Amino acid sequence: MTTATATKVLSDRIDRIEVSATMAITAEALKMKAQGIDLADFGAGEPHFATPQHIKAAAIEAIEKNFTRYTAVAGIPEVRKAIGDRHAADFGTSYAIDECVFSAGGKLAIFNAIEVLIEHGDEVIVPVPYWVSYKDIIEFAGGVPVFVETSEAESFRVTVEMIEAAITPKTKAIILNSPSNPSGAVLPTADLYAIVRLCHQRGVYVLLDECYVYLTFTGEIVSGASCTECKEHILVLGSLSKTYAMTGWRAGFALGPKAIIAAVSKLQSQSTSNAASMVQRASIAALTASQKCVSEMRADYIQLRDRVLAGLKTIPGLTCTVPEGAFYVYPNVKNFIGKGGINSAADLASKLLTEAHVVTVQGEPFGTQEHIRLSYAVSADVIDKGVQRMREFLGKLAA
Ligand SMILES: Cc1ncc(COP(=O)(O)O)c(C=O)c1O
Repeated sequence: MTTATATKVLSDRIDRIEVSATMAITAEALKMKAQGIDLADFGAGEPHFATPQHIKAAAIEAIEKNFTRYTAVAGIPEVRKAIGDRHAADFGTSYAIDECVFSAGGKLAIFNAIEVLIEHGDEVIVPVPYWVSYKDIIEFAGGVPVFVETSEAESFRVTVEMIEAAITPKTKAIILNSPSNPSGAVLPTADLYAIVRLCHQRGVYVLLDECYVYLTFTGEIVSGASCTECKEHILVLGSLSKTYAMTGWRAGFALGPKAIIAAVSKLQSQSTSNAASMVQRASIAALTASQKCVSEMRADYIQLRDRVLAGLKTIPGLTCTVPEGAFYVYPNVKNFIGKGGINSAADLASKLLTEAHVVTVQGEPFGTQEHIRLSYAVSADVIDKGVQRMREFLGKLAA
């Protein structure tokens, strides 16, 4: 009989990554709330709106009609058609059913796409600041994230020149997230298209994380996938979470070349299988009904953005770029680092939580050292209360 001699419990693969920083702060805030502490919570990146009624009704109907079994791994044809049709109507793209896979959340769609595209040592370009999960998802796959610094003075927008300078023979892909989590930066259309075209010419896959695309406030909602001549190198990674206030439902998708979508489905067939059947039906309702609920929520986010920006302006020492989309502000807190025992943005976020009872997320996991992120997908009252607490706390620090 042989005895297992392994001494290491966990794989190198899992040791390469860390728990999502946003999830960690959410957990801490939950603990404090459970103790009865009243928090102004700007932590979690999720809409404060309820899921619209017609979407809930579609899920309830699906359950009532016993639409509760396994479906095709990539999702039922109707949901994949609805996703392709929505994208075609909004952006002039053309994706057939076999160029679409429905997944249990946008994060899973990104994870799967990276897993099927990235070999050990492949480089993936990631503009800074970046959504926390990109780095870990790339590293889990064995890839190397190549961070491209942007300038705060240019509102954190990446340019085609910056991308061109970062491309090497090892570059396999780039992730673009416009509007951006955490900065709210929106790439000007010409720059977005120029980057997509450059990458296509160089054989670099463009992963368009369109999680917040419908929460763009510039009046123009744009997808890099509209450069249809570059389709062979484009993967659209979408989510219904923020657009339709559906974070808990876990509804996301990938659109792209048939062979890549087939590979994502193959991977999904060995992990989650299909996303929940009733969620697929609810997603069809979300995508095919009037999009009025989306424009109404967008209008509210614009008001909330303006309110939080106006509030932050009253805090001496704090500066903030004007976000043009998503629902985050990313103020610069460098003037408070080095004061009152605070040596980093992480220290500041931690003290804001424990001493001022304001939940924010430190900038470090997003790739910058001098910022904190606030999600303003909260009520106007929470904004007012939170900003006032920050003003008092930071005022004492500065004194
Ligand atoms: C930039 C970005 N991409 C993708 C996602 C994934 O969203 P979900 O998995 O809820 O669809 C998020 C969620 O916070 C995000 O902020």
